Amino acid sequence: MHLSDDYADLSRQAAAAFADVARAKPDATVILATGNTPIGMYDELTRLVHAGTVDLSRLRVFQLDEYVGIAPDDRRALYGWMDRAALAPWGVPAEQVVRLPSRSDDFPAAIAAYEAAIAAAGGIDLCILGLGPNGHIGFNEPPADRDAPTRLIDLTPESIASNAPYWGGIDQVPTKAITAGMRVLLASRRIFLLVSGGAKRAILHEALHGPVTSQVPASYLQSAAGVEVFADRAAAGA
Ligand code: F6R
Repeated sequence: MHLSDDYADLSRQAAAAFADVARAKPDATVILATGNTPIGMYDELTRLVHAGTVDLSRLRVFQLDEYVGIAPDDRRALYGWMDRAALAPWGVPAEQVVRLPSRSDDFPAAIAAYEAAIAAAGGIDLCILGLGPNGHIGFNEPPADRDAPTRLIDLTPESIASNAPYWGGIDQVPTKAITAGMRVLLASRRIFLLVSGGAKRAILHEALHGPVTSQVPASYLQSAAGVEVFADRAAAGA
């Protein structure tokens, strides 16, 4: 575990490790979480880009998850969040990004195309994840098996509540989403799980030290290769 004193320290440590990946392979394939936790790391990476110490513009980016049923340009679209937080400041052109659709006439085809694009790219080099209060990674809500595919899901009440502050209330949170599957995430060559704050302490402990179970999807990270946990003291309880 990469233990940090606080959130700023966590963001710097994770950004340094991310930048090393991009320096070794400038066109690395990456999955980028949204949510609050990785924002400090993305900002720190933007600082490194501006300082000229790393180039992130050649990364090939795959979306982790998206709300379903909203317009692609809805203010709540997670693609827009990822674009504002990472893609635009890093100069990643849209054609290097594989999206998950918020609307589709044919979700099965869109899902097949997403997983095929990952396979065609040779798999994922680095997957950035946050940890949901119910142990979800991406929007793999419990129960989710280790081989769960990319799919449509109903958000749990717990996840709707945790997403409410993003958009100004529970009634603003879409109830359906599409998520990269567990099998996509767990097959990534490296996985950074970023966890901050005392509210995540119990679920982080369960994910890392509890039974490996579909009830806590993040617990499958215990048996995946290449996992690195970046946690601050509040989350790690250390
Ligand atoms: C976001 C995502 C979610 C979040 C998780 C933690 O794209 O897939 O799994 O990473 O809910 O959210 P925060 O970081 O806001 O606590």
